[in-house]
Amino acid sequence: MDPADLIWMNGEFVAWEDAKVHVLTHGLHYGTGVFEGVRCYDTAAGPAVFRHADHIDRLFKSSELYYMPVPFEKEALRQATLELVARNGFRSCYIRPLITRGYGTMGLFPLDAPVDVAIAAWEWGAYLGDEGKTNGIRAKVSSWRRISPDSLIPHAKATGQYLNSVLAKVESHKAGYEEAILLDDNGHVCEGSGENIFVVDDGVVTTPPQTASILDGISRKSIIQIMRDMGIEVVERDLARAELYLADEVFVCGTAAELTPLREIDDHPIGAGRPGELTVAVQTAYEDALHGRSERYREWLDVVPAELYEAAATSEVVA
Ligand SMILES: Cc1ncc(COP(=O)(O)O)c(C=O)c1O
Repeated sequence: MDPADLIWMNGEFVAWEDAKVHVLTHGLHYGTGVFEGVRCYDTAAGPAVFRHADHIDRLFKSSELYYMPVPFEKEALRQATLELVARNGFRSCYIRPLITRGYGTMGLFPLDAPVDVAIAAWEWGAYLGDEGKTNGIRAKVSSWRRISPDSLIPHAKATGQYLNSVLAKVESHKAGYEEAILLDDNGHVCEGSGENIFVVDDGVVTTPPQTASILDGISRKSIIQIMRDMGIEVVERDLARAELYLADEVFVCGTAAELTPLREIDDHPIGAGRPGELTVAVQTAYEDALHGRSERYREWLDVVPAELYEAAATSEVVA
């Protein structure tokens, strides 16, 4: 990760190297934080944050689920993000808003600890690699089960919960695969360690339902809509592990990974062992939406106002 110039912390822009917290920050010890992964793309209308309002909404929902009142309005975080992108001079970047219990109290009762909010941004390529996006990746079904709603909150994007994904990701890498697929306690397919999953069989696309132990992915929602607009049948239901192996095509999607095809799962080649026709067509349509090439999905883009770049350039001259 290459450092950027500025990070936004609790209402102020600070230099990247000064964006520090105390070692007794509550979230560092107990995982009491929630976050988002957002991307900004360079489009013909200017750099644009993809589904910005949806990401901020989910951030607030995650925060609510962990009893963290956010000390900023949604619109303030939106404006701060747009300004952060412009002031760092980014045309495209990954954006990481984080809300966490800060420094002040220790122990498991978190409600007296302050709630800190930060937004960082940096330039970040395809999470599972450009090669993976083109030719597909190899995945392994993890021995770790996806967190269940009995013990945590699969629908919250909470920092502590990601230990589950970390274990699965490390296991898959050590075994020589690029990604892990997690099942739930009943053996149903949930998702990748940081992506939702889709299976294509006989032209029908199936994905675990929103009520499964998955993160309610924003890429997932977007891709479901795009596929339905393309006239593709999409079914949301439980998926058996064997359906992964027998599928014609499988792909995963997430803000970081975008749409990445799977070419092999647990050493079973998927289809012909390369990205299938439907996957490539949907990937192309999705990339068009992300990069503002599709009129139909223009409303998903929150364009960074040109004035913010101009203001950033002027203040640099003054400084
Ligand atoms: C566990 C998990 N599932 C799914 C996703 C995909 O969600 P989104 O498309 O909103 O990025 C992510 C990434 O945020 C994730 O971490």
